[in-house]
Amino acid sequence: MPRPSVSTILGRFRRQTEVKRSWHDPVRNPAASEFEVDLWTLSSFLLEKLVPVVGTHPYPLNELLLMSAAACRLKPSVVFDWGTHIGASARIFSECERTFNLGYEVHTIDLPSDAAHAEHPGAEHGRLVRGLEKVHLHRGDGVKVALDIWRKLGGPKRPLFFVDGDHAYESVRDELGEIFSTVPDASVIAHDTFFQSAESNYNVGPARAIDEIGEKFPGRFRMIKSGLGLPGMTLLLSR
Ligand SMILES: C[S@@+](CC[C@H](N)C(=O)[O-])C[C@H]1O[C@@H](n2cnc3c(N)ncnc32)[C@H](O)[C@@H]1O
Repeated sequence: MPRPSVSTILGRFRRQTEVKRSWHDPVRNPAASEFEVDLWTLSSFLLEKLVPVVGTHPYPLNELLLMSAAACRLKPSVVFDWGTHIGASARIFSECERTFNLGYEVHTIDLPSDAAHAEHPGAEHGRLVRGLEKVHLHRGDGVKVALDIWRKLGGPKRPLFFVDGDHAYESVRDELGEIFSTVPDASVIAHDTFFQSAESNYNVGPARAIDEIGEKFPGRFRMIKSGLGLPGMTLLLSR
């Protein structure tokens, strides 16, 4: 009889420990005007459930915390995510939903299979989310497909958009502009937003696009940055 692999044994162990562990809502004070979550609960969630599945690349721990905190605090009606790539971000939102019973579905979008893009995932597309309940894989231009689905769903309140597609200044600016012009109570998380000067040769596009969108839609959202370093993440939290 073949011996089970290490990952099979770990999987069994994880399933057994999951049965015993119950998770409470990390939002202890939902009426607070501050963006406040229980970081001890979320840290345990990260270490016990999230990191074993998605690792810490492309999202380091502080960004995983921001993503899961946003999902728990906002309790969005629906999550739109692009680009899918292997599905790490879609899986993160799915794990948050399943662990804390948040009740949303995740629509994740990547370019068509024949598109030419430096980061296109090819056959790896959606590997981490294939077959998961409440996760829907789509192909096309992220913002267009997301807003079409949002309309088809009847314009649900408090959607969350995760913007991690093409990181050029123009595309991020246009995507954020379309979201905030169309959806009155949208919240957005944008990735790769850590600001560095042009001399650093790092991608400064998303940081610049976010500054401009803040000026274009004054008072619409509060900005919460992951801080610390690259790649960087910013939550634009609907007021
Ligand atoms: C940095 S990767 C995203 C990583 C992914 N969120 C994850 O967690 O695994 C960028 C992805 O965006 C996709 N992409 C680029 N432009 C896009 C667009 N306009 N609409 C949808 N996806 C796009 C690329 O094909 C690539 O898969």
